[in-house]
Order: sequence, then C-alpha cells, then structure tokens
Amino acid sequence: MCGIVGIINEGNISVKNDLLKSLKRLEYRGYDSVGFADVQGNVEKDIGEISKFMDSIKDYKTSCAISHTRWATHGGVTKTNSHPHWNSKKNIFTVHNGIIENYEELKKELISKGHEFITETDSEIISHFFDEELKSKTMIEAIKSFIRRIKGTYAILIIEKGKNRIYAIKKDSPLVLGLAKDRFYLASDIYAFSDNTNKAIFFEDEEFAIVDPDRYSFYDLNGNELKKSIYEFTWAITQEESVKDYPHYMIKEIHEQPISSQRLLNSLDGEQHEKVAKIANLIKNSKRVVFTAAGSSYYASLLGVYFLNRIGINAHTLIASEFQNFMLVDKDTLLIAISQSGETMDVVTATKWARERGAKIVSLVNVPHSTLQRISDISLEIHAGPEISVAATKTFTNQVVALLYLSYILGFSINMKTIPEKIDYVINENEESIKHLANELYDKKDIYIIGRGLSYPPSREMALKLKEISYIHAEGMMGGELKHGTIALIEPGTPVIALIPGKDFDMHSNAKEVEARGARVIKIANMMESDFKIDVTINDGKFAILSVVIGQLLTYYIARKKGLPIDKPRNLAKSVTVK
Ligand code: AGP
Repeated sequence: MCGIVGIINEGNISVKNDLLKSLKRLEYRGYDSVGFADVQGNVEKDIGEISKFMDSIKDYKTSCAISHTRWATHGGVTKTNSHPHWNSKKNIFTVHNGIIENYEELKKELISKGHEFITETDSEIISHFFDEELKSKTMIEAIKSFIRRIKGTYAILIIEKGKNRIYAIKKDSPLVLGLAKDRFYLASDIYAFSDNTNKAIFFEDEEFAIVDPDRYSFYDLNGNELKKSIYEFTWAITQEESVKDYPHYMIKEIHEQPISSQRLLNSLDGEQHEKVAKIANLIKNSKRVVFTAAGSSYYASLLGVYFLNRIGINAHTLIASEFQNFMLVDKDTLLIAISQSGETMDVVTATKWARERGAKIVSLVNVPHSTLQRISDISLEIHAGPEISVAATKTFTNQVVALLYLSYILGFSINMKTIPEKIDYVINENEESIKHLANELYDKKDIYIIGRGLSYPPSREMALKLKEISYIHAEGMMGGELKHGTIALIEPGTPVIALIPGKDFDMHSNAKEVEARGARVIKIANMMESDFKIDVTINDGKFAILSVVIGQLLTYYIARKKGLPIDKPRNLAKSVTVK
C-alpha cells in the first residue's frame, strides 16, 4: 500500500499546494504518516493525516520533490519510520511503496560497511544501498544492480540533494508517469494528477525511468532505453468529486448509486457492449469459469457465481490470497478477476499465476489503466467514478450491476433498466428508519446477518461493512448453517439481520429459529414481512444490491453515532498493494 508522488517542474512548485495536494488524492492508499523531501535537502515528515501535516509545515518552494503517505508494514507508526528515508550523509532521499523481502540480509551487509540505520523499516535500506553503489557506479548501473539484488515489491522514487532529477523504479507495485503542461508527475496511480492531465505512461515490472524537468527516459532492467506509449485516460468525473454537500465521502458515495449505476448501464448498452458480448462468448465456451477477488469485490464475485449457476453455467470463486492453494487452472479456464482499484496485490498475483498457466483473463475494474486491467485479455470498466471512502459502496453495486448484465446477456431473467430507480427508492424510503435502527444498535458488540442463495453474499458484504467502518464484530453467514454451531452465540437481544429474498420459507424459518432464542430479529425482505421497504418482485436479482444498500446506510449511521473516522477507518487502506 502507501502512496507516492514526485513532481519535477520547469519552474518552482509549492510543496503544499502542488505536491501534497496531489499526495492527498492518494491518501486512500494509507494514512498512518506523511512526509516529503526536496532537492534543496529539505525534509519534513510526521505521523497522522496529510491535512494536519500541511498545517504544520511552512510552504516550501522547489522545482523537484518526492512525497509519501504510509500504510505501515515493517516498523510501527512513528515519525522516524515515516518516509522519506535517507542515507547517512543525508544527500539521497527515497520513498517506497512495497516490501523489501531481503532487507535484513542487505542491512547487515550495509552496516558492516559503516552505514547507520535509524528506522525499523525495510525501506530504509534503499537510500543506503544507492549511497554504497554510487561510490563506484553510475546511477544507471546502480539501479540495474538494485533490480538484480532486491527481492520483493517496489515503486520507488529517488532524489539526490542538489540535482534536479527524479529516478523511478518499479516491480509489482504500481507506478505511473503523468505528463502535464509544465511538469512531470511520478505517482502510484493516475488519480494523483488526473485533475491536471489525462496523459500518462505506465511502468511495467523491472523498468525504471530518469525524469528531468524537460525530458524523461525509460529503461529495462538491462539499462536498454525503451520506447513507451502515452495513454490518454478518461476518468475525472468532476461533478462527483466534491464532498461539500455531505459530511463524509461514504454517505456521498452511497447517495451517488442511482447515478453511478445508470452511468454503467449506459456504457454497457453503448461503448462497452462489444466487450460484453465477447466476455459472454468466452463464458459460454470455456470449460471452467472461475472468479477471484478480495473483500467486497469477492462478495460481488459470489453473486456472479450465483447468477451464472442459475442459468446453467458452472462457475466458482475463490479469495485471491488463497487462489493458488485451492484452485485448478489451465488453458481451458476463464478467470474473471474483480477489483475496484485493479491494484490489489493478491488479485494481481493470482491473475498473473493463472495467466502463466494459460488461462484467459477477463477483469472488472473501476480504475482505468490499472495493473489488473493491463494484464487482462478483456477488461470491463464499472464506471463508478472515483471512490474516496475506504468502504466500497458504489463500486460494489456497480460490480454487481456488471455481473447481472453479463448474466442477463447469457439468459438470466431481470429487468436491468429499473436498477437505478429501485436504489433511489430504497435510499429515500428507508434512510430515516435506518437512522433510528442505528441508534438502537450502535453499542452492540456483535451483529449476525443471515442469508441464503441470492442473499448470502449480501450478508457477507453487510458484515464486512459493519466491521470495517462501525467497528462492530459482525458475521455474515448462511442461514442454514447457523444451527450447526453459531446459534449457540444467540442470546436474548442479540441482533440478527435476516435477508429474505422472495418467498424463501427456509430463510424465514432460520429467522424464526433465532427469534425463538430471544434474538432481536431485523428483517430485510421484499415479499414477506419486512422492517424496510424494498420494491422488487419475487427473487429479483436486484434484491442483492438493495439489501446491501440498506447495510451501507446502517453501517454509516452507526459509525456516525459512534463518532468514528468513517472515511478512513483505523488500520485500513483502500488499496491493498501488499500480500
Ligand atoms: C471494502 O469496503 C474494503 N475496504 C475492501 O475489502 C476491498 O473491497 C478489498 O480490499 C478489495 O479491493 P479492490 O476491489 O480494490 O481489489
């Protein structure tokens, strides 16, 4: 995880208004600490969020600087462990996203050569490594030797005091060069500069670049100069970027769902339709269809499996971090990888592994030109627009909309057109009663959510939302499985949310079973007695989306009642680019 941004400019930039403003756009990648260094040798860093940091430092002016927002892996959340790191002479500064796996061995070696280390991080070895190598080598030779020696993952920016130049190296962590009118950006993703330019060059693994104020050059791991293509992306959806009418991004993004799902439907009917048809064909003609994803995207994939199975297509899904342990993949396999960011390391790793075994790769991503998109044979964009809150809300919905659409093309019965209006209805009709329910549930220690079939994946997604944003232990589970053990935890007053799609009498019985043991049962149903209004008919696939929207709102209002940091919950980052 972590976000990195470097800017090199013809004239001067403001560290606060240019560099850190860009870095702030990557804060979703981690927000434990922040720091920057410039070519004059100024360095500032501190724990906490970027806005607090911006208030605490003077406004440095410089033509070249690098910055970092951290999600801690090696070493606690301290000012010392924050990036940038430097060498003993304090003339080489580095920022790093990724993990250096063999840092202990390298650290010992460097200490024996007189280098002094001051942090607990793996990343600190980078500046010392270059300091040592540059004693006898050119920078290009030093970078080649770095790529050869280092085991692990990295997107790294390096500057040297007094030299107007940024060196950038990448392996397995994302890195992109942004080409703006008067400056170059080097960043973890395009969102860092998408307000300023839509032109970008993506680094591939084991490539590096040397960037001066007026030119850049890319090299492969042997130091051969590369010719790289410039991509023009369309991504910024400016009317959705401002949070000013809402107290938090999460509630803004929940409310955006009617618009963002409509936008996706338009694109699936329009410019993405040919891709949809190709994917549908691949699904029909593959011997094995398997999904992989993490977190909310995994719960969306579970729905994908459910929809495809309903129309006679055998499909499976597996959490990306365990994919290689539990899934068989060969050249007759179609892998459908789902990821909002397109950068989740577990998903990218599983996808590369499947690709090496000859599988065809389809992906569903939100961030265009992300790593996952670039390693796919076909990639569908879910067009949810930038999602800033750590909680996946509108992106989960759009993933499910895309999967419903694909299934619909293949024969699943659903009226796709009404999805946006049904979401709108659920939000408008239920938001007030959800606030009341949040007041009742906010101090509970545990919440159980039960579902079956169509409503099982939503039960998992609701539980994840409650855990990560409202800090309540929640379990989403199969209603039928409850009586095999977990029912022992039900005490008088334990909240159990029962998701009852259509006339699912088994699900209804499961709700009754916990009610009989004193549970406080809250029902989300469309064809039976319900605590919320959901306007869809029997077994309509939309129930999956609508029940989750209720869970999103409930989570939000519980977290708000508890005064929690809703958009940036503790210990989390939106994009998980480490294993
Ligand atoms: C969702 O609310 C989570 N923050 C998280 O589980 C997320 O869905 C997961 O990390 C996967 O991310 P991706 O979709 O970008 O791959």
